[in-house]
Amino acid sequence: MIERPIIALDFPSKKEIETFLAKFPENEKLFVKVGMEIFYQEGPEIVRWLKEQGHDIFLDLKLHDIPNTVERAMTRLANLGVAITNVHAAGGIEMMAAAKRGLTAGTKKGAQVPQLIAVTQLTSTGEEQMQKEQLISATLEESVLNYAKCAEKAGLDGVVCSALEAAKIHEATSDDFMCLTPGIRPSGAAVGDQKRVVTPAIAKEIGSSVIVVGRPVTQAADPVAAYLAIKNEWNGESL
Ligand code: C5P
Repeated sequence: MIERPIIALDFPSKKEIETFLAKFPENEKLFVKVGMEIFYQEGPEIVRWLKEQGHDIFLDLKLHDIPNTVERAMTRLANLGVAITNVHAAGGIEMMAAAKRGLTAGTKKGAQVPQLIAVTQLTSTGEEQMQKEQLISATLEESVLNYAKCAEKAGLDGVVCSALEAAKIHEATSDDFMCLTPGIRPSGAAVGDQKRVVTPAIAKEIGSSVIVVGRPVTQAADPVAAYLAIKNEWNGESL
């Protein structure tokens, strides 16, 4: 289990990230998620800068292309020294294995190879849409479990999933297979566009290995207090 909730840095540019991070005490090192929005705006430099500040990084770029391209891209990304990164399981076992090879090849000697996880079905994909558009006749849950097993077979470390799927995924995979779960809301918080949400304590109870939280922290009146409350709840401590 990863003790710090990962904060999704869903901001349009470095300027907003600087303002947000300046609110945290110097010694509160964070685990942050860098997604497509900020990566495409600022480039790899944003990752290097966050690393220099002492933060750990989940680089959420969801690669999905032919195995050779993904392998080469991962070799480049490995240079950045992130802790976790990801691909789409729909790219196939061969592509996922290639991604892992690229990451391993690109990691500097003696450094930790980033953990690699797979997106199964996006949480924005409904069962009906999946069946009609992807022509998958299984249920959404069956498809998610199948992709999780494919990711494990390819040698990946885990999947991005809803906390509500974590227990089933744990049953179908090895004990240390990571279930990284967004869709977290402290009780009473605004749900936004997330459909299936759980509290940090429930996420822990039902098998999340690590939680990702965005707006409940980034949009809070007091982001530090919001973060600490979520962190404490996740770790089973009261304030
Ligand atoms: O603001 P919120 O807490 O909903 O942010 C959750 C973060 O996790 C966002 O960056 C969102 O893109 C991401 N995410 C998600 N569901 C997935 C994969 C990623 O909510 N299946």
